[in-house]
Amino acid sequence: MGKAKRALLTGITGQDGSYLSELLLKKGYEVHGVIRRSSTFGTDRIEHLYRDPHESGTRLFLHYGDLTDGNNAAALLQEIQPDEIYNLGAQSHVGVSFINPVYTVEVDALGVLHLLEAIRHCGRPVKFYQASSSEMYGKVVETPQTEKTPFHPRSPYGCAKVYGFWQTVNYREAYGLFACNGILFNHESPRRGETFVSRKITRAATRIKLGLQKKLYLGNLDARRDWGFAGDYVEAMWLMLQQKKPGDYVIATGQTHSVRELLDEAFGLLKLDWKKHVEQDDRYLRPAEVDLLLGDASHARKTLKWKPKVTFKKLVKMMVEADLKLAEQEKILHQAGHRVHKTEYE
Ligand code: NAP
Ligand code: GDD
Repeated sequence: MGKAKRALLTGITGQDGSYLSELLLKKGYEVHGVIRRSSTFGTDRIEHLYRDPHESGTRLFLHYGDLTDGNNAAALLQEIQPDEIYNLGAQSHVGVSFINPVYTVEVDALGVLHLLEAIRHCGRPVKFYQASSSEMYGKVVETPQTEKTPFHPRSPYGCAKVYGFWQTVNYREAYGLFACNGILFNHESPRRGETFVSRKITRAATRIKLGLQKKLYLGNLDARRDWGFAGDYVEAMWLMLQQKKPGDYVIATGQTHSVRELLDEAFGLLKLDWKKHVEQDDRYLRPAEVDLLLGDASHARKTLKWKPKVTFKKLVKMMVEADLKLAEQEKILHQAGHRVHKTEYE
């Protein structure tokens, strides 16, 4: 048996990091993830994969680090000697990027450069995946969006991701690095952060159903997104690094839906009328909005032989069912006198 491939993931504690770790471990990889020091545990999404490092057979290892620290990137490469790096770490909330633009750029733009520089100087061939985003299309100049569609970012997050995209292309062209951009359209799951609109809706709808919450406050209901399932999308990331040549790929379902349609679907599954529960709150409006995203993943379908398996309806159902279970657990706690209040701030 050959030596197991070694992957290094930034953002391992995030939604995509957890699904990608599962996939790579199943494929026999040794997986190394970067985690940030925090005053509370932030490893819930990978808890089911983690074993005591002293236990024989452990293939998941965690290392402290931060994308803003270039020395850390170089040291991790030296220590781990990975074959593949997946850069999933980011301040990934578009709304928050308007509030913390400089920090967002330090992590989402310069963080990419730190990794590329570390690879360039490490003296080994390391394949690199950059988590680029459909947010780069912003004020879209054509629909659907492909790898050839020009970018027009509409947020500090989008601008930072454009920087990371081009720097990845540049290191590929200038230094011959095997570096790929996945231009991923929105992808969700029961593990999605609770302040992104899909999860905010499925969490609130299920809590409302069980009497744990009365209202849901949202921003722009007219925005349209191409929503897919995160579990499908991480497979495309891996496929990109298994090709003969590096490249850039749009990953999307080719279907677009409005936030309103997402509300219809989620509340409909619970036999609730969302109009009785949802109120608009200007706090959730952004200074500039991305109105419509719709991706054409023909290149990935043809070259990677990748296609999404989970439809919009199936995705919403999966999220509602998972959140209903969570709400049921909360209700038991509530009935036992525990506080189940949630702070709403994004
Ligand atoms: P997520 O759930 O928000 O996870 C983000 C991850 O980045 C977390 O592990 C977080 O760590 C880590 N992180 C944040 N700041 C960091 C820093 N300064 N140094 C090191 N790590 C840091 O995001 P996701 O949905 O999994 O997305 C993964 C990547 O794909 C991100 O780069 C995102 O921008 C990009 N993307 C996402 C989508 C989507 O629809 N989900 C679409 C296109 C592109 P903590 O747990 O400690 O906070
Ligand atoms: N978060 C949030 N909260 N969004 C809301 C709300 C709300 O209360 N009300 C309406 N929206 C609208 C947003 O204005 C946006 O148009 C849409 O719902 C989707 O918002 P998010 O779920 O926050 O996702 P996003 O599209 O801004 O960004 C996500 O997808 C990008 C790929 O296109 C993030 O995952 C990014 O990291 C990712 O790159």
